[in-house]
Amino acid sequence: MAAAANSHALTFRQDYFSDPAAWAALVALLEDTFGIDVSIQDRFGGPDPTSMPFGYFDANGVCAANFSAFSMPMMIDGRLVKVAGFQSGAVRPQWRGRGLYRDLMNRAFGWCDEQGFELGLLLTDKPALYEPYGFTILPQQKFVGAPPLETRLAGIARALSLGNAADIALIRRALGERTPVSSVFAVTAQAEMFLLNGVFDPDIRLTYLEQFDVVVAWKSDEASFQLLDIAGKTIPPLSAILSALDQRPDHVEVCFPSDRLDWPDTPATFESDISLMVRGSAAGLSGPVMLSPMAEF
Ligand SMILES: CC(C)(COP(=O)(O)OP(=O)(O)OC[C@H]1O[C@@H](n2cnc3c(N)ncnc32)[C@H](O)[C@@H]1OP(=O)(O)O)[C@@H](O)C(=O)NCCC(=O)NCCS
Repeated sequence: MAAAANSHALTFRQDYFSDPAAWAALVALLEDTFGIDVSIQDRFGGPDPTSMPFGYFDANGVCAANFSAFSMPMMIDGRLVKVAGFQSGAVRPQWRGRGLYRDLMNRAFGWCDEQGFELGLLLTDKPALYEPYGFTILPQQKFVGAPPLETRLAGIARALSLGNAADIALIRRALGERTPVSSVFAVTAQAEMFLLNGVFDPDIRLTYLEQFDVVVAWKSDEASFQLLDIAGKTIPPLSAILSALDQRPDHVEVCFPSDRLDWPDTPATFESDISLMVRGSAAGLSGPVMLSPMAEF
């Protein structure tokens, strides 16, 4: 496939993020394809350093096609698992239908196998594209229920802003020393997507709970409270989080397995146009799972 692509005057490049022009060319490809601006990451120290991009560039440096892998260690059923995430898959319209993406997928999956990743994960609205490569859909479920009984707590809850350098540093620290938010299915360390997702969705609120030294990512409307993630050394019970945030909802939705929240929930179908897909041994993934929206990629 590489030969076919080269015959169209494209050059294959791998691991090219150290070249600012090539990074900018990928930013443009993703902006043109998905309408998202990933250059916002430059504010937070650049793209994930574990990223391994595979791309084709034309003679003018335009990125015609890309597919990236990155390392996303996870806690799955109480075990630390070496997981690769795949993202930034796009081919410019004039270059589609020539096997470029097939070539990049083969390179990326082959590289991950060589690196010894146990599992591959991706999120897609085109699951059929990845099935021939051994990916299957992992159904996601959210965890719902009535709020726990209120706990009376003193303590300071401070709203954080991703426009404030000190707040970003605090969030980075909390993510760096975090306990996985679930022992069933959760990332162990990954700051870049948490920060980027926090910028992309203005409804996400990030609050620092001083008494627990944790950052809580959440949303709320009149009746319902959505817990998206908790970053810190300890995971407080849900009752303490609601009390510290001064929230008294009728209904709670937790967007990750709630095994550490001391809360009797009920799994409920999570409706989405985007499928979570897994490649590799999915043993241990039998229970209901959901990837925290803050880890979405
Ligand atoms: C999807 C996309 C990356 C495919 O790129 P491409 O270079 O045209 O793909 P290829 O020519 O390499 O085709 C690879 C295989 O995928 C299949 N395929 C292509 N588009 C597909 C789609 N939308 N759904 C399912 N399969 C698809 C092809 O039939 C081909 O199958 P084959 O290997 O059995 O022949 C490109 O159309 C694109 O950028 N789309 C918009 C962004 C997008 O959806 N990205 C993927 C996000 S998860």
